[in-house]
Amino acid sequence: MAHASSPAETEWWKSAVLYQIYPRSFQDSNGDGIGDLAGIAARLDHLVDLGVDAIWISPIFPSPMADFGYDVADYTGIDPRFGTLADFDALLAAAHARGLKLLLDFVPNHSSDQHPWFAESRASRDNPKRDWYIWRDAAPDGGPPNNWISDFGGPAWEWDAATGQYYSHAFLKEQPDLNWRNPDLRAAMMDVLRFWFDRGVDGFRIDVLWHMVKHADFIDNPVNPDYRPEMGEMHAVLQTHSTDQPEVHAIAAEMRAIADGYGARLLIGEIYLPVPRLMDYYGTADAPEVQLPFNFQLIDAPWDARSLARLIAEYEAALPPGGWPNWVLGNHDRPRSATKRGAAQARVAAMLLLTLRGTPTIYYGDEIGMTDTDIPPDKVQDPRELREPGLGLGRDPVRTPMPWDAGDGAGFTTGVPWLPISPDWRTRNVAAEDDDPASMLALHRALLALRRAYPALAMGDYVSVAAEGDILAYERRLGGERLLIVLNLGAMPQTFIAPEGGFRPILSTLPGALPDTVMLLHPDEGLICTL
Ligand code: GLC
Repeated sequence: MAHASSPAETEWWKSAVLYQIYPRSFQDSNGDGIGDLAGIAARLDHLVDLGVDAIWISPIFPSPMADFGYDVADYTGIDPRFGTLADFDALLAAAHARGLKLLLDFVPNHSSDQHPWFAESRASRDNPKRDWYIWRDAAPDGGPPNNWISDFGGPAWEWDAATGQYYSHAFLKEQPDLNWRNPDLRAAMMDVLRFWFDRGVDGFRIDVLWHMVKHADFIDNPVNPDYRPEMGEMHAVLQTHSTDQPEVHAIAAEMRAIADGYGARLLIGEIYLPVPRLMDYYGTADAPEVQLPFNFQLIDAPWDARSLARLIAEYEAALPPGGWPNWVLGNHDRPRSATKRGAAQARVAAMLLLTLRGTPTIYYGDEIGMTDTDIPPDKVQDPRELREPGLGLGRDPVRTPMPWDAGDGAGFTTGVPWLPISPDWRTRNVAAEDDDPASMLALHRALLALRRAYPALAMGDYVSVAAEGDILAYERRLGGERLLIVLNLGAMPQTFIAPEGGFRPILSTLPGALPDTVMLLHPDEGLICTL
């Protein structure tokens, strides 16, 4: 018999810390140099020791891997490189047995061009699945129907000689866009969600949610007046008519209604939009959409106290009633935190990520301070880099294998890894950091332990205290519990005069003695204090 879950159970994701696994690079169990599901299962104890609550696994579905799994050829299967459905069920059971939730990656904007649906769609203009994808006639000059540009460069349209029309692809031509205006496609994709929910998954991260619906009239996008070629060709036009259309919201709301039908499930939307438009993806009280529209602002934020304090305040103020915040420092598409900020500031950034109000997501490897790895030209895998080389847009550097120990293959593989292992893996690896109380791993464990020990850190209000020079200070408050977080964002020592006495430092980002009376912060130091 079904039992009604309490709000705390239903909203487990509010106090949770999420962890993103890029499955090709987490743990290989069969020596083919590519991570797999059995590998993830073998490493769950690392995640439990770290103290995270849920994992999100990037796509594991059958795929030709033109975009490393973001080109799905079967939405309800498992790619043999990653294992089998039985391996998936075993992983899910093993995660649940440890109290970990598991989220999958739903890729609704496009399928692979190898998906049987697309084979049917391109077979003829009158195929019943023709309209499951987006087909348009050529412009009068025979060129593409409009000026839309793929996110990976080049026109967002591919000519199909056999049927004499173009199809739309927001990414690679191997990733044809699905037509969400078609009710049968829509129903088939909603069934995909049900398939995995029925198997017990705890939710989804939804790929490029804001891309899913295009303007019905396919009008040209405006030219971007600020475009510079080094930005990547996609930025030559503004994606005004190819993304973020009003019709997407009813679709997101339908996904949420399905998720809610299963109880205590989480939907996260991948959405790169300015804050006011991002907020629309929370939906309304009557038609809620995703619980967490990803907030990527910290990835590129200017690293000074005033800018950060303003960004936090504006984001908090923009949240709709009941909207829960979330924060991210990196993912499989963006430079790593330790590369952007340097090793010392990456520790401060971790303290920021894990003490702001809202659900944080940790990108695999960031907990040991992994940096971006230079990939020699002959080892490049990412289509983003191959299509527009040399602009620094490639994502291989942030997708290198997780270094587990100092043995050959870094404990990741007994074979040849699909991407080079980071050059510092013999010293920067999980085993080496495991025993080192000064390590980034130890800091992450301490931060996550504090989030459990102090409900104010996980669920409390955010109160800005100071933002001057290199000092960013804020409180988290819940009931009578108050914590003060003071971050030195710079490389000079700083004195912080606490607004009131009686604070007690309980954790520093740096090893060594904690300050007691006057708060003297070392360069690149962050402190958490009780008040
Ligand atoms: C998302 C994914 C990215 C992928 C793209 C196309 O942005 O995060 O890795 O290439 O969508 O699916």
